[in-house]
Amino acid sequence: MSFDLELKGRRALVTGGTKGIGAAVVHSLVGAGVEVVTTARSAPVTAVDHVHYAPADLTTADGCARVAEAVRQRLGGVDIIVHVVGGSSAPAGGYQALSDAVWADEINANLLAAVRLDRALVPAMVAQGSGVVVHVSSIQHRLPLPESTTAYAAAKAALSTYSKSLSKEVTPRGVRVVRVAPGWVETEAAVRLVERVAVEAGTDYEGGRRIIMAGLGGVPLGRPSRPDEVADLITFLVSARASAITGAEYVIDGGTVPTA
Ligand SMILES: NC(=O)c1ccc[n+]([C@@H]2O[C@H](COP(=O)([O-])OP(=O)(O)OC[C@H]3O[C@@H](n4cnc5c(N)ncnc54)[C@H](OP(=O)(O)O)[C@@H]3O)[C@@H](O)[C@H]2O)c1
Repeated sequence: MSFDLELKGRRALVTGGTKGIGAAVVHSLVGAGVEVVTTARSAPVTAVDHVHYAPADLTTADGCARVAEAVRQRLGGVDIIVHVVGGSSAPAGGYQALSDAVWADEINANLLAAVRLDRALVPAMVAQGSGVVVHVSSIQHRLPLPESTTAYAAAKAALSTYSKSLSKEVTPRGVRVVRVAPGWVETEAAVRLVERVAVEAGTDYEGGRRIIMAGLGGVPLGRPSRPDEVADLITFLVSARASAITGAEYVIDGGTVPTA
């Protein structure tokens, strides 16, 4: 059996590639020989060979249009799109704290950024008869936490349904579409959260981790996933070794979702 990923020379857009999961995906794809355009609102701290940075706010239609244009100009086309941008800035306080403006922010970041970029870039993949699109969702679309993530979870659920529908439409024309749903991932932001929780509870880092995992209903693996573990999964899914995988969701959560 060959385990050559056959990614050398491929062209990819990775949104949100300067921190967290996105940065790990960029690192992994570049290591596999991929030429990458990535985006964020603020510039990366250090430039990386084979990575072109396109600054944009992807919660706006204009930002998405500028990134699509940068992809065409810098790469001349695209073989892989990994939609990583997302997250939540909603306040705590349950459904009553969620104003129209908060709902719009969550939907723009977690659904419409991907929808707009796909509408701009997937037609060229269909025309070339090949391509892979990955939508990074979250286990929260199945396991929402009502105190602060109802709108985020609902937007990720919409992203998942959109992704499945897109896969049905474009897979017969050569473009695979897959979803990756992480549970808790220990990004730089998560490390800061653990440290804060630990200080507030008067415990150490491991104690802070345990408090967060208890809030998720427990993580059988006993630890969060690492960004590089999520990136490894995504790198496999965009490779030739996953050529029969489309329209499916891959959960990477250390067993957090309690049902089969
Ligand atoms: N971390 C987790 O535990 C976890 C769990 C489940 C799902 N996820 C999902 O995984 C994805 C990545 O999460 P993460 O925790 O790795 O994120 P992160 O560490 O906060 O990084 C987010 C990246 O996206 C960029 N970004 C954020 N908002 C943007 C915007 N409006 N326009 C353009 N770029 C933007 C950020 O750069 P700038 O700030 O400079 O713009 C950064 O590069 C998200 O979709 C998230 O919902 C994460």
